[in-house]
Parts: sequence; structure tokens; C-alpha cells
Amino acid sequence: MSEKLWKSVPVRPSEITPKDIYLRRREFLKVGAIAAAAAVVAACGASQGPTPTATLPPRQTPQPGRDEYGDPVTPYEAITNYNNYYEFSADKEAVARLAKNFQTRPWTVEVSGLVAKPRRFDIDDLLKKYPQEERIYRLRCVEGWSMVIPWLGFPLAKLLKEVEPLGSARYVSFVSVSRPEEMPGMRSGFYPWPYREGLRLDEALHPLTILATGLYGELLPNQNGAPLRLVVPWKYGFKSAKAIVKIELTEQQPPTFWNLIAPHEYGFYSNVNPNKPHPRWSQATERRIGESGRRPTLMFNGYAEEVAHLYEGMDLMQEY
Ligand code: MTE
Repeated sequence: MSEKLWKSVPVRPSEITPKDIYLRRREFLKVGAIAAAAAVVAACGASQGPTPTATLPPRQTPQPGRDEYGDPVTPYEAITNYNNYYEFSADKEAVARLAKNFQTRPWTVEVSGLVAKPRRFDIDDLLKKYPQEERIYRLRCVEGWSMVIPWLGFPLAKLLKEVEPLGSARYVSFVSVSRPEEMPGMRSGFYPWPYREGLRLDEALHPLTILATGLYGELLPNQNGAPLRLVVPWKYGFKSAKAIVKIELTEQQPPTFWNLIAPHEYGFYSNVNPNKPHPRWSQATERRIGESGRRPTLMFNGYAEEVAHLYEGMDLMQEY
């Protein structure tokens, strides 16, 4: 991320020291360089025959403040003032104000279900225990806009491995907090609260899947899902449940918030797929926040090289 962008972030007390973040960002950039090298190998493989990744633009050497396609991170002000968080409001520009006094301490996350060692984790222990890595990911909203977000977080796989999933576990369910007294949007009886999402276990264990605890080098702002939210970069933004209080491993596919409301619009998988139309918004193109015009949406949001194998043999037009 450019010096200028970092400096534009308001300084607030943080559990994470700037030096720590700087060093870990460098570590992540090194990991990114390895991933980019792997992508080149995959691209060479692709020349032997058509693959779902064939139309992806070339990846670039990782640079601070840019994603692997060279796109700059979206300004902090936009990321933190244009939010979907229905517990507070359906008005994206009202969420930041309404979430301002939401209490994120004390906070625990229960990890239970089909695991050998169910546990309740305190958020501050998780912040201390797991190094917070920077991950610059594109968030592609099903509504047809996108942002590039410099998250801080750690792989979900680390947490799941601690509780030792049983052989019968096939899915992971994520449940967001329910606090109608602090969340005015929850007073609407229309929605099937609490907000919940789900992944297949192999998607949850994928190294790209993270639990985010921060962005732009600071703890997560309330409106972005403090203190802990899911981020799965190859899926539409709505898969990334905010303010998680419970993670449960299950044998059956768990219910998900948007699928319960409108199953013909939102499937369980919700992989970014420019070929699968949505009844109300284009999935073929997207508007990057801060840009005019629209750009093509990439299969799996540009992460096909890493994740297409998870869906081999599936008809993604039926299982969307
Ligand atoms: N999580 C909860 N608990 N409640 C929500 O309304 N909205 C989802 C997702 N996670 C939502 C949620 C949707 S529709 C999107 S696009 C992303 O959060 C938006 O994340 P952002 O505000 O950090 O950009």
C-alpha cells in the first residue's frame, strides 16, 4: 500500500503495533511472490488446453497497495462508508453512523459441532495467538460493484485445526451476533435473523479463506464486521458474515441468510461467476468503487487458479 494511503488513515489506538504490521506485511508479500510464481506455472499448464482460467489477465509482481492484477486498494473512506450490514440498516451510507457505538468487547467465538475439541475463543486471545497477515483481496458484491480491500487476518484453517474436525464434518456454519438493542435493523421482522452463512469444509480450509480482524493496518471498524468477520475472496461479498459469534461444523449443508430469503437469487455456493446471470444485477461486469465505467467480472473473482479444482465435476450453472 502506498505511503500516501497509509498516512491518510486516521491514527487510533490499536492492539497491533505499526512495526509488527510492517514486518508481517513484508512476510505476506513474500508469500504473494511465491503464489504469483505458482500462477505462472499454472498459466503455462493452461496453454496445453482450455481451462476455466484461460481468460484471466496476467498477474503482476506483488506491489504494496495493489492486488495481484496491479489494481490499487480502494480508499479507506469508501471501504468504511459504503457497507452492507442489514442488522444496522439497508442503507449502505447509514451503517457507519449507526454502528458507531456497537460494543465489540468482551467478545467470544464458540467453535463447536462435529469437532473433537469444542472451544470458546476470546477475540483478544486470537489476536495475540495468530499473526495478523495483510491480504489484499477484491470484494465483489452481487449488486455489481467491487472494492480492493487490504484486510488483516489469519487463515480460518488455523482455528478449525485447533478444534480437530471429525471425519463426519462436511460443512461449516457461521452465525453473526444478534443484539437488536444495539442493531436497529434487526427490529425488522422481515429477515430470518440471525445473519448466517456457510461453506463446505474444503472451502473453509482453503488457504485463501481468512477470518479478518482488521483493514488498512487497524482493527476492523464496526461497520466492516468488528471484531471478526469471514472473508472468502472468490465468493460474492455476502458470504462474508460479520461480527461472528459461532462457528459450527455440520454434516448437512447449513441454512444461509440470503438463500432463505430468495433461493432463486442466492445459492449456497455463491461463487463469483460472470456466466451465471442474476435476475436484477449484471454478473458479467462490475463497477470498481472510485472508477467510472464497468470492467469485466473475472471467474471466481480472479482466483480460479487457486480454487477452480474445488468444483471439478460440478455444474456451476445449477449449483450456484
Ligand atoms: N454480515 C452480516 N452479519 N450482515 C450483513 O448484512 N452483508 C453482507 C456481508 N456480511 C452482511 C454481512 C454483504 S451483502 C456484503 S456485500 C458484505 O458483508 C459487505 O462487506 P463490507 O461492508 O465490509 O464491504
